[in-house]
Amino acid sequence: MKKILKFRLKSELTQVNLLSILPWLFVLNLNAQSTPLIQNIHNRDATSLNGHWKFVVDPYETGYRNHRNWQPFDKVESTKASAKPYWTDRVAESPTDRVEYNFNTSAEILVPGDWNTQKPELFYYEGSAWYRTTFDYNLPENKKLILYFGGANYQTDVYLNGQKVGMHLGGYDPFNFDITELLQPENNSLVVRVDNRREDSRVPGLTSDWWNYGGLTREVKLVELPETYIQDYRIQLDPKNPENIKGFIKLNTGEAGQNINLSIPEIKLEKQLVTNAEGKAELSISAKKIKKWYPERPKLYDVKITTSTDAITDRIGFRTIETKGADILLNGQSIFLRGISLHEENPIRGGRAYSKADARTLFGWAQELNCNFVRLAHYPHNEYMPRLADELGILLWEEIPVYWGIDYENPVVFNQAKTQLETLIQRDKNRASVIIWSLANETPEVPSRLNFLRKLKSIALNIDDTRFISAALERDEKSKADVVTIPDPFAEDVDIIACNEYIGWYSGLPDRCDEVSWELPDDKPFFISEFGGGALYNHRGDKLERWTEDYQKYLYERQIAMLKRIPTLRGSTPWILIDFRSPRRNLPLIQDGWNRKGLISNGGFKKEAYWVLKSFYDEMEKQYPVNIKD
Ligand code: GCU
Repeated sequence: MKKILKFRLKSELTQVNLLSILPWLFVLNLNAQSTPLIQNIHNRDATSLNGHWKFVVDPYETGYRNHRNWQPFDKVESTKASAKPYWTDRVAESPTDRVEYNFNTSAEILVPGDWNTQKPELFYYEGSAWYRTTFDYNLPENKKLILYFGGANYQTDVYLNGQKVGMHLGGYDPFNFDITELLQPENNSLVVRVDNRREDSRVPGLTSDWWNYGGLTREVKLVELPETYIQDYRIQLDPKNPENIKGFIKLNTGEAGQNINLSIPEIKLEKQLVTNAEGKAELSISAKKIKKWYPERPKLYDVKITTSTDAITDRIGFRTIETKGADILLNGQSIFLRGISLHEENPIRGGRAYSKADARTLFGWAQELNCNFVRLAHYPHNEYMPRLADELGILLWEEIPVYWGIDYENPVVFNQAKTQLETLIQRDKNRASVIIWSLANETPEVPSRLNFLRKLKSIALNIDDTRFISAALERDEKSKADVVTIPDPFAEDVDIIACNEYIGWYSGLPDRCDEVSWELPDDKPFFISEFGGGALYNHRGDKLERWTEDYQKYLYERQIAMLKRIPTLRGSTPWILIDFRSPRRNLPLIQDGWNRKGLISNGGFKKEAYWVLKSFYDEMEKQYPVNIKD
């Protein structure tokens, strides 16, 4: 009896498990409908769909779900002609027609751009909204048309001419669809639904310390490609042999025997390659004449890839990065990461940053602080950021929003973290500026989280084993009197031990920094991924009066004195360059919905502590001189 019971119980459990994740298999399958992210679509000729789109807010998801069973119409092939499975662009055709929405007579919204800062009534909105634009497109024979989104927060359902194109889950990663089969020469109706609700099945989960900007937050464009095109490539220096360029080039068709030409004209490098049965050509090419990429000399090369049907050019920098004991070596030289943390927010216009101009503002302010490093917190930023960092010579920490408490037991949550990580690496693996993939921020030390992160780490290394793996871990300040340690078991898994610490703000007053010592491994670089405190610009007072610039300045002075006492410290990204919006920060007259830890106010004014950090970085620049030999 016992045996049968056990079997039955197990089979019921399986059924329960299967039933509980079955809907998600559908979702995952839908996600699979999207075309794999195309490498360097950024540099492809494109037709922009940016501009004014029609916009309908839909807080009760009337256009998406059957109100009787709350099921998405998408799942049920609607047989009733009148009940379109979703909102498209129906209009009343006769006086007897009943239609209760109409894109043509609806308001408009700018794309790209979050809805929160474009429409005051949507400032706190977390829900579903519909976008619509129309376009003509004459697609030549033997061409494909790709619809590309730089990013949208959080679930995006895409329809073209009344047909479902696909769905994407994820708030900060690019995605693209092949819409060739659904295209018509004129008046294509592109309808997109975006839903930015926080859910415990999403990444991030139900809470975060940043604004949940929703909508089509990044650019949308059409890219025309040949039937056989260059789908992916990785072209970087071989970490094990820096005089060699190593990588691969892959075509979208898994055909063997396709000829590919790779050239770097500036060093007269030319290489003929042939694809294998997967449509992929591995490459390992001697490149002795390459000038390495340095922050102080961000040398980029035009890299051209051509086939009989396609051609693409990328601007790629070549450098090596490794650790040696506690040192971080860039092109074999020990460096100090003079960093700062950044959210993807435009400090003057407000809202989600998305453009090259936004990137110039943000990096320009970081460079004024004498930074050679920026932490793009807490999610993948738009692609203008890593590409401009390549040009400006700013090293980057990039991360996925595995942040605080998410549901580490849920396979759907893991799949989203995995997809976001894979897409981030897929997009930026040719960017010299990116040196760290960070997998988590202040996540609880429970077994399921450790297993979750270790799986993500092996996925990252499987795609790209040339960059560092890290995570913003937490410290333990209580177990030993006045001794700070990092007991997190994931510290064994990372290449650089990074830690967020708010000594002097969340724990003790600034002089607490003078009382503590740090107990750390001596064979790995150590990095402070966050420290800081809040100050309202122009609010002055005693150095122990919280929220004054004077307190924040005193805190930075004491923090930096502490950092200087840590022998394995090789960098820091204090929290944060600019005040940023957060629904968690509501102290009247001081925060009013802003996290005030910025060294610069959201109006662009530098606070006193800014100059304390700058003089520290001026000092570290002298202490770590760079000798550019090649
Ligand atoms: C945490 C967290 C940040 C947050 C910061 C703060 O360390 O990583 O996202 O904004 O603390 O409290 O300001």
